[in-house]
Amino acid sequence: MAINKDYFVIEGLAGARKLRGKISVNGSKNAALPAMAASLLFDNPVTLTNVPAIEDIKRMGELLKSLKTKVSHQGKHSLIIDPRSTKKTAFNEEISKRLRASIVLLGPVLGRFGEASLPHPGGCVIGARPIDLFIEGFDKMGVNFSEKDGLYTFKTRGGKLSGADITFKIVSVTATETFLMAAVLAKGTTVLRNVALEPEVTSVAEWLMRCGAKISGIGTSTLTIEGGELLQAPTLPFPIIPDRIEAGSFLILGAISASRLTIEKCNPEHIIVTIELLREAGLDIETGPDFIKIKPGKENQCRTISIRTHEYPGFPTDLQAPLTVFMTQSCGEGAVFETIFEGRLNYTEILIKMGADLKMWDAHHVTVKGPTKLSGKEVESPDIRAGLAFIIAAIAAEGQSIIRNAYYIDRGYEHIERRLRKIGVNIRRVAG
Ligand code: EPZ
Repeated sequence: MAINKDYFVIEGLAGARKLRGKISVNGSKNAALPAMAASLLFDNPVTLTNVPAIEDIKRMGELLKSLKTKVSHQGKHSLIIDPRSTKKTAFNEEISKRLRASIVLLGPVLGRFGEASLPHPGGCVIGARPIDLFIEGFDKMGVNFSEKDGLYTFKTRGGKLSGADITFKIVSVTATETFLMAAVLAKGTTVLRNVALEPEVTSVAEWLMRCGAKISGIGTSTLTIEGGELLQAPTLPFPIIPDRIEAGSFLILGAISASRLTIEKCNPEHIIVTIELLREAGLDIETGPDFIKIKPGKENQCRTISIRTHEYPGFPTDLQAPLTVFMTQSCGEGAVFETIFEGRLNYTEILIKMGADLKMWDAHHVTVKGPTKLSGKEVESPDIRAGLAFIIAAIAAEGQSIIRNAYYIDRGYEHIERRLRKIGVNIRRVAG
């Protein structure tokens, strides 16, 4: 399928704090994607609600359909996935090359059918994104791995996955999700050590446990799973948790360009570090059970901060680019340490072109001096989160910006231009 060539045109506020009003957060992309994969662990259809209507969800739906799984919509934000017709184990190559989350399907497909084949999973170009954890982990579960002409094949030696004791040498969100799901259908006990604690992982694990999966240790670094048969589909739908990266992105936009902004339908608990950093910078932030209100603090100019990305509950790498834009508009010199991905600071050269006073010391470390005036430019989004950061920079900048590759932003944010216009952003989409 052709990727649309849409782009955004944004008239900047030249540093003025003119945005105001309310913006609500959608369901989490990175919780909905593993939940869709987990539907293959069930014996009957499952219903997912509060699913964001974004490109990555459409791609995952197409990927499931290519395996002959039935995927249907019940309204714009609800999916019914019926795994009973699933019979293919070769992942659609074009889709898998554009969606890193496709790799999570390895867990339920190997658990259910004992074999799977896929290309190297694609997605955001923010580093090499190897899959060694998957190859090593499945080897312990009795799976042979082979690669030919860029196609990976996984095949269980005895027809069924065997439980294993797996220690992840690096914390990985999708590896944790994949092996949690594989273990649900494996023979015997699986122990997963040094797992990811992201809310998206925990929400799916808790859902599977409510549906009868025997999982212990949820919320800790070690999960123990007793393998068994297919799970009984629940009668109740599974509501996807709010997207903490959307909530954090809108909060940072508010910190730069709003006189007052309320972020609704979010879970402030999931972004406490981001909130703390912005309070330290001088913003006035009030939180409630499902909302966050932000407005300037006493000093109109913010103090700068320094950030170090870290696995949850640390500061999330997916908010690093937006918060770096905030640092260009704050007083002082701050440092950014990107510890998760080696390619996730490349976008900063574009911020320099827009006027940021930013120095890259190495692939993991930049320093930012502020405040500097940003000027509108024509730029290309390199990935989902840098794309959103460019929108935030364009709103703060003076003059007009054009942000190409709107598709990347549409991968992670539903109708972003409509939602931003409602709080006062002068943004329009031009069909490419
Ligand atoms: C998930 O990616 C998210 N994607 C990413 O969000 C997020 O940035 C990332 O976790 C970190 O929080 C989804 O959940 C779909 P990792 P994932 O495996 O699982 C290395 C977005 O914008 N690694 O936790 O692919 C890897 O290179 C996206 O929504 C290996 O070395 O990330 C990285 O350095 C971008 N070998 C580190 O682990 C492996 O086999 C953490 O990556 C696997 C990963």
